[in-house]
Amino acid sequence: MQNLRDYLYIAASILFIYGLKMLSKATTARKGNLVSSVGMLIAIVATLLLADQNPNTEIQWMWIVTGAVIGSVIGAAAARLVKMTSMPEMVGLFNGFGGLASLLVGWAEYHKIATQGEGSLFTLVAIGATVLIGGVTFSGSMIAYAKLAGKMDGKPILFKGQQLVNGALLLIAVAAAVMFCMNPASTYGVFIGMVVVSMILGVLVTIPIGGADMPVVIALLNSYSGLAACAAGFVIMNNVLIVAGSLVGASGLILTSIMCRAMNRSLANVMFAGVGATVATGKTFQGEAKTVSAQDAYLMLEAASSVVFVPGYGMAVAQAQHVVKELGDLLEDNGCEVSYCVHPVAGRMPGHMNVLLAEADVPYEQLVEPQDVNPTIPNVDVAVVIGANDVVNPAAREEGTALYGMPIIDVDNAKVCIVLKRSLKAGFAGVDNPLFFAPNTRMLLGDAKASITHVVGEFKE
Ligand code: TAP
Repeated sequence: MQNLRDYLYIAASILFIYGLKMLSKATTARKGNLVSSVGMLIAIVATLLLADQNPNTEIQWMWIVTGAVIGSVIGAAAARLVKMTSMPEMVGLFNGFGGLASLLVGWAEYHKIATQGEGSLFTLVAIGATVLIGGVTFSGSMIAYAKLAGKMDGKPILFKGQQLVNGALLLIAVAAAVMFCMNPASTYGVFIGMVVVSMILGVLVTIPIGGADMPVVIALLNSYSGLAACAAGFVIMNNVLIVAGSLVGASGLILTSIMCRAMNRSLANVMFAGVGATVATGKTFQGEAKTVSAQDAYLMLEAASSVVFVPGYGMAVAQAQHVVKELGDLLEDNGCEVSYCVHPVAGRMPGHMNVLLAEADVPYEQLVEPQDVNPTIPNVDVAVVIGANDVVNPAAREEGTALYGMPIIDVDNAKVCIVLKRSLKAGFAGVDNPLFFAPNTRMLLGDAKASITHVVGEFKE
């Protein structure tokens, strides 16, 4: 039985790795998701049906079935009802619940050791790691959720001596872990204290991160949820949990490093200094914006021989991807060279714009990276910004703004830049955008889908 279970765990692990690999391309991502899910199903069935025949750990099927039914109903309903633009909040919640689940596994094992007195030092150390990382992940993810869902102010919250307080809390949590490792039976109160301290730490390390830096914290918390699961795997000595947790931990860390590069931050800065903690000087940019009608925009595009589309969060809100592709096709038929430049943090989740463009069948070859476009952008006739704001904000080049240091797509250097959005309001980071007042910028105000549909109509006429 034990052998069969291990073989099935190996099969599940292989499916996780294949699934993860397939997730790296938009064309295979759906299949990758399915492959990983099948792996997880195999792992769950193998764990339940081939569990050790130990009367003390006999499976309580009532609880398992009740939990599985409730979880499946909530999961299926949420997946159907949650809007695409709210996915990042949902991912934040998932990360948090992953952390909480690991914490509870650690707690259950600690309870067993504290009350029945059997448990090795190794298990107790693993419990300490599970509770600390799980607690930080849970409360940190709840703060990230609240910030992304607009339930709390997205700006960084800073106070004097924040790093010292965080360091002290970490030391207290580690000291508590050492205490209950040495004497688990009489330190239940210390254990509960560690749970509370871990959760406070999660809140404190997440609140200083805000504005444009949120993608980094989401990726990091995702990685933490994997590490917590991996530690929980060591607590109950479950190989497949260790493998799955390490995969999530490692891939989350890789994503964090990609996001750090996109934001021009170092990982150490994210983990220990609180990214986004730069106090902005409140610099504002104002001027007179030149607005154009859809017909004017059509005339400019019709005469262009090269166009770069720059999508952002507003394209997701407007669900404009299909009309954007239609416009791109019409431009190509008109002899224009068309490309789509996607910023790594555009939208609200990693790959957000890539998913939308893939859904609209934009060919992969037309997608270009900012670092490839920026050097040649002065030769581009028209850059069309569709509901993007922070990722094209030249204020990121100005010291003292909250966006300072973030690499942007230099649309302000194109011959003409047409910006589609509904108003002159700032983007996610709350920083005014001087692009709107640049001499070569034309604002096409209104819902992006409606505006582009109008331009497409002009083309067809
Ligand atoms: P944002 O800076 O969020 O700007 C989006 C713009 O879209 C808004 O200024 C809004 O302006 C416009 N908009 C909204 N609805 C629209 C509609 N129906 N039609 C036309 N325009 C519409 O977007 P961005 O440039 O993509 O930057 C993303 C930001 O989110 C970055 O700061 C990034 O760090 C942050 N973030 C990213 C992630 C990930 S992982 N990608 C996760 C969390 C946070 P109006 O209201 O004037 O229309």
